[in-house]
Amino acid sequence: MEDLYYSDYIELDKILSSQHPKSFEALEEGNDEMLFIIIHQVYELWFKQIIFELDLVRHIFIRDRINDNSDDLSKVVQKLKRIGKILELINQQVSVLETMTAPDFLEFRNLLLPASGFQSKQFRLIEAKLGLKMEQRYKREYYKYTRRGSLAETDLQEVDQAENESTLKELIIKWLERMPFFHEEYWQDYKRSSPVDRRSTPQSGSVDRQSIESNSGQRHKFWVDYRGAYQTSLSQSEAGRLKEFDKVFFEEGRGDVSPAAMRAALFITIYRNLPIFHLPFELLNTLSEIDELLSNWRYRHFMMVRRMIGLRVGTGGTSGAGYLEGTLSQHYAFREITEVATFLIERGKRPGLPNVLKEKVSFNL
Ligand code: HEM
Repeated sequence: MEDLYYSDYIELDKILSSQHPKSFEALEEGNDEMLFIIIHQVYELWFKQIIFELDLVRHIFIRDRINDNSDDLSKVVQKLKRIGKILELINQQVSVLETMTAPDFLEFRNLLLPASGFQSKQFRLIEAKLGLKMEQRYKREYYKYTRRGSLAETDLQEVDQAENESTLKELIIKWLERMPFFHEEYWQDYKRSSPVDRRSTPQSGSVDRQSIESNSGQRHKFWVDYRGAYQTSLSQSEAGRLKEFDKVFFEEGRGDVSPAAMRAALFITIYRNLPIFHLPFELLNTLSEIDELLSNWRYRHFMMVRRMIGLRVGTGGTSGAGYLEGTLSQHYAFREITEVATFLIERGKRPGLPNVLKEKVSFNL
């Protein structure tokens, strides 16, 4: 049997014979189109790896029970962190393309029409698998496959299918909803915060105890205490946040995240220093990081586009930089998780947890 050869193993010939700049036939006529093609190909390869990692993470989460004893959760965190590192890398790559000037780009730009990064199926799949839905996208009309410069019908169908399979966001929500923190048996030795703790702070002055208790309804005593502590932490200009607290954690939830899932995310974040919450917190934190790194990419790409084409429309027929700026403020998958920070209080003001809970809630989340 012949020894395996490096270039055969990684199918290098195929990859290296896949660059065909349209604007020049011979090397000496060369311009920046070679760079333009290679950089897109490199991006697409990294997109492929991100999708691979995302599918693996989703596969682990699809099970009803994530068992930390079998390393599931640490594997998930490791893979998501890897996605973060890839995103960091591809953010830096924008500066390689920025060595091309606007006049350099003009030399071959018209030859691309109407092709555009807008048609990157893999980029759309990443967004969809993370949890971005079509109805949440900026300028949905641009996606109609009948529009010149939009995605092909089969590509759009694949994106649609990815949205309808369990997205990472949906799986995370279900995982959060399953958290067993509030089973009554864990709370028997819980010591309520004293009314004084819940009533006065330098910022907000006195808080009406009755309002704390009357808003409690059927709420767990922990949340009644936490809400009181949160209320006392608010300055007058932020007093309206208390209504939002009730809405987010007990009435409607936030975005497409249910109140129960929001409560679990807040609970993990409040007690992140307890060993049992290290990994769940790291997981939530990494999701926010991925959102942030993706929007960093959107920002860098948008700034680069402004330098390259100013205010002209894109080759894909959108309004160009204006469109990209719109996606920047709208396209997030884990915004609700990140915004949990709105409802945190100082460490020293947190209600103490009952010992039974600390002991009983094992890694078996
Ligand atoms: C000279 C460099 C580039 C220019 C001038 C440029 C321009 C644009 C423009 C104007 C759009 C909006 C759609 C349109 O009307 O065409 C767009 C979208 C996009 N481009 Fe680029 N692009 C460049 C490089 C890249 C690179 C290297 C990638 C890497 C894959 C990329 C990926 C994308 C993606 C994924 C979108 C869709 C963004 C979204 O809808 O959120 N672009 N680009």
